[in-house]
Amino acid sequence: MRPFPVLWSLATIAFALTNHASQEASKCTSFAPSAVLASYDASFLNTTHFPIGALNVSGILNHVSFCEIYANISYETNSSLIFAIWLPDTQYALRFMAVGNGGMAGAIDYSNMVTQLNSELGFAVAGGNAGHLASENNAGAGAPEVYLPYLHDEDQVRAWIHDAVSLFTPAAKAVVKHYYSHEAKHAYYDGCSTGGAQGFALAEFHPDLFDGIVAGCPGNWYSHLALSFLWSAQQTDTNATFLSQPVLDFITAEALRECDLIDGVADNLIENPLACPFDVSSLACNGSILTPNDNITCLISSHITAAKAINQGPVRSDDPTTSLYPGFSSGSETNWLLQEGTLASAFSIPILQNLVFNNLSYDAATFNWASDVDILDARAGTFIDETSNNLSSFWKRGSKMLVYQGWADPFNAAAWPIQHLEAVTRATIGDNATVVNNDFMKLFMIPGGGHCGASISAQYSNIPAEYDMVPALVNWVEKGHVPLEGIKSEAPSDGSARTRRLCAWPAVAKLKDGGEVDDWESYVCE
Ligand SMILES: *[C@@H]1O[C@H](CO)[C@@H](O)[C@H](O)[C@H]1NC(C)=O
Ligand SMILES: *[C@@H]1O[C@H](CO)[C@@H](O)[C@H](O)[C@H]1NC(C)=O
Ligand SMILES: *[C@@H]1O[C@H](CO)[C@@H](O)[C@H](O)[C@H]1NC(C)=O
Ligand SMILES: *[C@@H]1O[C@H](CO)[C@@H](O)[C@H](O)[C@H]1NC(C)=O
Ligand SMILES: *[C@@H]1O[C@H](CO)[C@@H](O)[C@H](O)[C@H]1NC(C)=O
Ligand SMILES: *[C@@H]1O[C@H](CO)[C@@H](O)[C@H](O)[C@H]1NC(C)=O
Ligand SMILES: *[C@@H]1O[C@H](CO)[C@@H](O)[C@H](O)[C@H]1NC(C)=O
Ligand SMILES: *[C@@H]1O[C@H](CO)[C@@H](O)[C@H](O)[C@H]1NC(C)=O
Ligand SMILES: *[C@@H]1O[C@H](CO)[C@@H](O)[C@H](O)[C@H]1NC(C)=O
Ligand SMILES: *[C@@H]1O[C@H](CO)[C@@H](O)[C@H](O)[C@H]1NC(C)=O
Repeated sequence: MRPFPVLWSLATIAFALTNHASQEASKCTSFAPSAVLASYDASFLNTTHFPIGALNVSGILNHVSFCEIYANISYETNSSLIFAIWLPDTQYALRFMAVGNGGMAGAIDYSNMVTQLNSELGFAVAGGNAGHLASENNAGAGAPEVYLPYLHDEDQVRAWIHDAVSLFTPAAKAVVKHYYSHEAKHAYYDGCSTGGAQGFALAEFHPDLFDGIVAGCPGNWYSHLALSFLWSAQQTDTNATFLSQPVLDFITAEALRECDLIDGVADNLIENPLACPFDVSSLACNGSILTPNDNITCLISSHITAAKAINQGPVRSDDPTTSLYPGFSSGSETNWLLQEGTLASAFSIPILQNLVFNNLSYDAATFNWASDVDILDARAGTFIDETSNNLSSFWKRGSKMLVYQGWADPFNAAAWPIQHLEAVTRATIGDNATVVNNDFMKLFMIPGGGHCGASISAQYSNIPAEYDMVPALVNWVEKGHVPLEGIKSEAPSDGSARTRRLCAWPAVAKLKDGGEVDDWESYVCE
């Protein structure tokens, strides 16, 4: 019977842990970063120590205790960017991770910050608000006829996607170095959507800052991404052309019926939509049924015209052979509802009214798909696009980039990152380079994948919605391990245990003979 010594030793351990934790807390709260920040024109704002589990970002708790430092950096004449640096107490592994923003930004992406902090890779993590405040910009939600101050300030427009991450990164790296007395050996970036565009901006405009970049569902041709939203909205803005959710579900079900089995696996999924010959015209009612009901068995011609236009994507009115942005792929239809007005109202119309025409009464229905495209390119594209095909500075430095894109992403046409990867490969490495031997950028297409994770529609709720991109990037940067054997995806929104193998384009996952369909280990990339 030895209760006493056991209690005694537990108490000792508890005391030691408490003591250690309080040391970490006092190291944090007594840390004085003002001088180091000042050398980067940044101002110290405040410090807080978070014990394990003290932070809850939309349900994600911090699994490691950390020191939070807020700072403020002035840029250009009148603008300011707020950023946070999270310094883990114990697991710093000489790695720095910066995260990007979503949508119109204006707020720090704490959710991605806590995800990166919790990873076992030992990151010191930093994130900023992109140089403007959501609170001063309609809570970061664009809407028609709403004045968004940041879109009227050229410095803030430039900062938003092109420069925001680069503005805080040197100061944040310096703080990390001073806190641990060891600078990070490797610097990484992770962002999706607008954050994916910010990733391309880093590679293009700030190629020396990061060794590895994850750019998810990248909106890096931002001005034309906005055009694609407007295009889809205009194609479906009458009762005759609007595609209801049952109509969209019907089209996707028919595409799956035709193409699911192309890869030999019956999984309600098109592995590679480019290999799918599905044509929505084949669903024509041929005059027999004029009013679709809930049990749709065919499509009226105005629905077919609308669906084909969304498949095609926007083109110039003065030259219909000139594509302004790719269209949406077979199997993505079930997620298109957002394309039918919501995204135009949230992005295209605000960008046209505030940034391009500086006229809140501007009527987007009058957009001229020739002359106004040129105006948009000059007044918006110049400041918010990051589409250079020549990333040679980034490449020559030896930095690596992982791009991922959901095939059923309702925001970004999935063909865009493929098209861009091919152009970047040739312009950066050489005319004869191919995406297969590209040694600095790999693209992972996600069958059934949505925008930065789960698909909205129930159709694809079984698709794994988390992708192990960051560990793969770290392995590539630090060990030279090119992720050609694929990357694991997991955590579908339906809560099932399904995992899938994602492959570096143009490889696709192939089920091994007799393999378990829902286990990523059963697949190889071919
Ligand atoms: C620290 O500063 C940030 C940015 O201004 C602010 O959001 C936060 O509430 C501050 N935290 C404390 C503890 O003062
Ligand atoms: C974390 O926040 C979520 C809401 O975002 C809440 O449902 C959950 O109970 C919280 N968890 C804890 C441990 O406080
Ligand atoms: C950040 O700095 C700018 C310029 O120095 C200042 O105007 C602004 O109020 C500061 N913001 C915060 C949250 O301290
Ligand atoms: C900076 O702000 C001041 C005061 O609001 C204004 O007069 C000035 O024009 C601004 N400068 C720039 C470059 O935006
Ligand atoms: C569209 O349909 C709605 C109801 O379904 C109807 O109220 C409206 O008048 C119709 N609009 C046109 C232009 O036909
Ligand atoms: C309508 O006719 C076309 C051309 O004959 C055919 O391809 C299509 O499958 C038909 N549609 C339906 C729903 O049967
Ligand atoms: C639609 O299909 C359901 C189930 O197959 C059936 O119960 C219902 O009667 C059908 N409705 C119409 C209008 O055909
Ligand atoms: C703003 O747009 C409206 C609607 O297109 C137009 O009538 C008006 O003339 C425009 N205002 C200016 C100042 O251009
Ligand atoms: C790509 O950019 C680099 C400088 O960043 C330049 O030296 C090179 O000539 C460019 N390549 C092409 C094909 O334009
Ligand atoms: C590209 O390939 C073609 C045909 O094989 C060859 O003639 C050409 O020299 C190659 N160019 C470069 C830059 O290697």
